[in-house]
This record gives sequence, structure tokens and C-alpha cells, in this order.
Amino acid sequence: MGVLAFPLFLPLLWRLIVVNASFPTTLEGPFKPVTVPFDNQSYHGNAIDLPDTDPQIQRTVQGFEPEQVSVSLSSDYDSVWISWITGDSQIGDDITPLDPESVYSVVQYGIEGSQMSNEEVGYSLVYNQLYPFEGLQNYTSGIIHHVRLTGLCNL
Ligand SMILES: *[C@@H]1O[C@H](CO)[C@@H](O)[C@H](O)[C@H]1NC(C)=O
Ligand SMILES: *[C@@H]1O[C@H](CO)[C@@H](O)[C@H](O)[C@H]1NC(C)=O
Repeated sequence: MGVLAFPLFLPLLWRLIVVNASFPTTLEGPFKPVTVPFDNQSYHGNAIDLPDTDPQIQRTVQGFEPEQVSVSLSSDYDSVWISWITGDSQIGDDITPLDPESVYSVVQYGIEGSQMSNEEVGYSLVYNQLYPFEGLQNYTSGIIHHVRLTGLCNL
């Protein structure tokens, strides 16, 4: 696999936090809990409130484009973690984990309307559940990227 670079361009961090009004929030609850049987074959849940076929959770990116971007607070008031996924997770027999070194973890950022002149490099990893015995299917995640941005008050 070649080296791929997909820097994230973040016009203004906090504008990235998009709230999709279609998902019910806890404020609209409480909701009646529902238990559904686990599908042993496909290893998918059968969620009736958010089924796998819901357009809001369909994978819309191609190849190693970033997806599942999230922004979370770090330990300092002017620091945040940017996290995202590249590549597909796999479940089943004879799966091969992706190489986390095959895609860079780079965020380019700046104030909205000006150049994205700041850049930070982070790290990446994959999460595996590989069972050395029969009976359970193996799982390996897409590549999980984490980049910490600091000094945001001085932009
Ligand atoms: C699913 O797995 C459980 C635990 O091994 C088993 O008890 C159950 O019969 C299985 N169901 C089907 C539909 O295979
Ligand atoms: C799951 O992964 C483990 C560790 O690589 C391997 O020994 C095992 O054979 C795999 N299981 C299946 C069903 O492919």
C-alpha cells in the first residue's frame, strides 16, 4: 500500500460541530428501551431506532477519505483533539488489519476566511479483536487518527 496523505482542512473548528436535527436527543426522551436479538451471522445489531440502512449512517466517502470526524476538548482551554477514521473496518474470517502508517495524520487549520497556515501532525492506530480460537469472528477497525491542536487562543 502506498503512502497516502489526506490532510483535513478545518475552516473553523467549532463550525465543524454539526448537529443533525434528525437524530433524537436525550432531551426528547425518555424513550422506552427496546431489546432486539443479535444476528449471529452478520454480526450486525437489528436496531429499530437507527437501522443499518438509515441514510444518515451510510458510508459516503471513497477509499481513504476521512470520515467520522470529531472534535473533543483537551486538557487545556485552548486545545482540542481532532479525530477521524480512514479506511473500512472488517469483520469475519481471514481479515488483514490496515497499516496505520499508510495514511498520514495531519490537520491544517486556521481562522475562517484566512489561510490554513497552521499544521499539526498526530498519530494513528487500528483496533483489533483477533481471536486465536474458533467460534468468534475477528474484527479490525479502520485507521483511527488523533491530532491534538494547542495554542488556539493565539491564532
Ligand atoms: C447465536 O449464538 C448463541 C450463542 O452461541 C446461540 O445460543 C444461538 O442459538 C445462536 N442463534 C442462532 C440463530 O444461530
Ligand atoms: C483471527 O485472528 C487470529 C490472529 O491473527 C488467527 O489466529 C485466527 O485464525 C483468526 N480467525 C479466523 C476465523 O480467521
